[in-house]
Amino acid sequence: MNIYFAPLEGITGYIYRNAYSDIICRDRGKELISKFFSPFISPGVNQRLSRKELRDILPENNRGIRLIPQLLGCRGEDILLGIEDIKALGYTEVNLNLGCPSGTVVAKKKGAGLLAYTDALDEFLYKIYEKADIKVSVKTRIGKNSPEEFFEILDIYNKYPMEELIIHPRIQTDFYKNKPDMEMFQYAVSHSKNRLCYNGDITSAEEYSQIIEKYGNGENYDSLGKNENKKSCDCEGGDKSFTDAVMIGRGFLKNPMLIHKISGYIENGKNKNEGEGAYGNSYINDNVSTETQDIDTIKEFHGRLLEEYKKEMSGERPVLFKMKELWAYMGDMFPGSGKLLKKLRKAVSLKEYKMLAEEIINTGYTKSINSERLPCSKTSLDT
Ligand SMILES: Cc1cc2nc3c(=O)[nH]c(=O)nc-3n(C[C@H](O)[C@H](O)[C@H](O)COP(=O)(O)O)c2cc1C
Repeated sequence: MNIYFAPLEGITGYIYRNAYSDIICRDRGKELISKFFSPFISPGVNQRLSRKELRDILPENNRGIRLIPQLLGCRGEDILLGIEDIKALGYTEVNLNLGCPSGTVVAKKKGAGLLAYTDALDEFLYKIYEKADIKVSVKTRIGKNSPEEFFEILDIYNKYPMEELIIHPRIQTDFYKNKPDMEMFQYAVSHSKNRLCYNGDITSAEEYSQIIEKYGNGENYDSLGKNENKKSCDCEGGDKSFTDAVMIGRGFLKNPMLIHKISGYIENGKNKNEGEGAYGNSYINDNVSTETQDIDTIKEFHGRLLEEYKKEMSGERPVLFKMKELWAYMGDMFPGSGKLLKKLRKAVSLKEYKMLAEEIINTGYTKSINSERLPCSKTSLDT
C-alpha cells in the first residue's frame, strides 16, 4: 500500500516537505511517503506559469522526494500550458484538483466547483487527456451539493485513463465537516475503471488499517493496468478497481510521527498489539526511550521549520503566522498544554513564540514520561 502526503495549501510547501522528509522520515522520504503532492498551482488564462508560481516545485527545492505537482483550473487549454511548464522541469506526472471547496475557487467553477457542471467537466478532461503526454491523476470530492452527483461524475471519470483517482468522499458544501461518505467510496470501488486512492480523516495507524483491510486489494499494480497479484474484489461491480494508496493530510500535520506508526504496521503486520488496535491510538510507543526520541525529532522538526521560514520570509509577522497555523494542528499532540497553546496563539514576537513552543514540546515530553502515553485526537473513523 502506498502512502501519499496530501497537498495542504499554505502549509506543505517545499520547506515543510523537505523538513518532513529529512527529519521525520529520517532521510527515508521516498521509501515511507511514495508521493508528496504539491499545493495547487492555478494557471492564468492562456498563460505560462511564472518563475514565482513554479518555485515550490522546482527540482532544486525538492531533492530526494517524489513530488507530484498539482494544477487547478476549469479550462483544459490552460492546464495543458501548465503541463508544458511542469514537464520542462522534468516531471512525468501531474495531478488535477477537482476537490478544493473554497468559495473563491468554486465561484470560478474550479476545484469542487466544476463538479456541478458535468458537461464542462467532461470537456475539460477530454481536452487534457486527448493532448497531455504525461501521466495525469485526479483528486476529487464526490459532488458539489449532494453525494448522489457522484454517480454521473464517476461515469465521466471512467472515460479517461487516469494515472489514479484520489477520492476524498465529501461534497463541496461539507468543507471539512461531517464524515467521509464511505458508501460512496464503496460505490467507487465497485464501479471505477481507474485505480483508486482513499483520502480523508485518517489520523491513526488503526484507521489506516481499517481502510486497507476493507479496500486494499491492489498490491503490486503496475501502471499499465496489469496486476498479477490482485485479489478478487467482493464488491458488486466485480473486479474492476482497487485501492492501492491512501493519502493523508491533517493526520500528518497533527502528528508528524504517524508515518512511523503506519510503516510499523505495514512492516510488522497487523497482529502486533492485537486487542488494543494494531498500534493503539497513542502517539507514542510504550517505552520511554522511544518517546524521548520522538519528542527530540519533533523538536528538531519544529526548529528546522522555524529557521527555514525565517530565512524565506521578511519580517516576524509572516513567520509567526506560518508557525501558529502549524500549531492549530500540532497542538493535538500536547493535549495537556491548552493554556500554553492559548498564549502561543497570542504571541507577538518570535522570541516569545519560540519560548512557548519549546515549553509546550518539553512539557509534553515530561508528561509523556509520567503518563507513558500521549493520546492522539479521535476522528470520525473511530466511531
Ligand atoms: C489548509 C488546507 C489546505 C489544503 N490545500 C489543498 C490543495 O492545495 N490541494 C488539494 O487537492 N487539497 C487541499 N486540501 C485538502 C487536503 O489535501 C485533503 O484532501 C483533506 O484535508 C482531507 O484529507 P485529510 O483528512 O487526510 O486531511 C487542503 C486542506 C486543508 C485543510
